[in-house]
Amino acid sequence: MKPVILAIESSCDETSAAVLENGKVLSNIVSSQLAHAKYGGVVPEIASRLHQQDIIAVVHEALEKSGKTRTDLDAIAFTRGPGLLGSLLVGTCFAKSYAFGLGIPLIEVNHMQAHVLANFLSDSPPAFPFLCLTVSGGHTQIVLVRNYLDMEVIGQTLDDAAGEAYDKAGKIMGLPYPAGPVIDKLAKEGNIDFHDFPIPSIPGLNFSFSGLKTNLLYFLRDNLALNPDFIQQNINDICASYQHRIVSYLLAKLKKAAREYKVKDLAIAGGVSANSELRRQFGETCEKLQVRPHIPAFQFCTDNAGMIGIAAHFKYLAGEFADLEAVPFTREG
Ligand SMILES: Nc1ncnc2c1ncn2[C@@H]1O[C@H](COP(=O)(O)OP(=O)(O)OP(=O)(O)O)[C@@H](O)[C@H]1O
Ligand SMILES: [Mg+2]
Repeated sequence: MKPVILAIESSCDETSAAVLENGKVLSNIVSSQLAHAKYGGVVPEIASRLHQQDIIAVVHEALEKSGKTRTDLDAIAFTRGPGLLGSLLVGTCFAKSYAFGLGIPLIEVNHMQAHVLANFLSDSPPAFPFLCLTVSGGHTQIVLVRNYLDMEVIGQTLDDAAGEAYDKAGKIMGLPYPAGPVIDKLAKEGNIDFHDFPIPSIPGLNFSFSGLKTNLLYFLRDNLALNPDFIQQNINDICASYQHRIVSYLLAKLKKAAREYKVKDLAIAGGVSANSELRRQFGETCEKLQVRPHIPAFQFCTDNAGMIGIAAHFKYLAGEFADLEAVPFTREG
């Protein structure tokens, strides 16, 4: 069986559709909503309206680029959650209607599991069991992955996500949204020792990022009182030292988890796994631990339907289908 699956992702501010055949991505179209930039964060009502406006064109383009037609499809997959309710509803309703109209199965996908499974869109995927550090706009998790559909969160943030730590810092410093890629770029020219941001001491494998953001706020407030141009004059150094703390904190916890769980493969996933410093230091960490590193290709780190498609592929093979009653969920648990 080599299923051809159309996957839809609409959980936040990316409208995306992908076509996969036997777990290989034939097309992966991502339409990012730029309208949120001027608000410094995603506006849910605008997000759902833009999904509604864009979804048909995005699906058409994905089908066209894949060389398949709708009669070739064996199933339709969609992100059921977590995410923004209005945004999820657009993808969910579209997927249900399309599957119903074509008379083919519907597959619901958990967005966070899909981020992890993006590591299987590779020629050398991880071997089970492995640990995945999933770092995104709304989550920071260390996940024990026993099998494609058998995962357990063994550590997570108690407050802000790593992506939020980037985006909120960007907002404080007047950088465009999303600030992650901007801070990544500015940090390349900066000094990591410029300011020693405190590491929150949270026991076990959990994280906390809210103190880091507050420390940045007070550090800037105090320095701006002495020099109104403090941010402009030191932006690269501020970004480098702030990012250094985030990356070293994430990897210290991942290292602790790897030792505890004695796995041979480690992976990273989610939007923040596109970060160049995290990718570089993750490679070094794996070398020191003598484990195999796995990092998704850039296009599969931030939200995309390719990752929804690979998760759906494994569900299809396992015979796990959804019914038309499936409704979105905004949070887990
Ligand atoms: N190069 C980068 N460096 C650091 N952060 C980055 C980079 N590229 C993207 N990000 C961050 O990734 C986040 C977006 O990732 P993603 O699309 O996976 O999140 P999300 O889907 O909104 O949240 P979730 O997956 O938790 O529901 C943003 O916070 C963004 O700033
Ligand atoms: Mg995401």
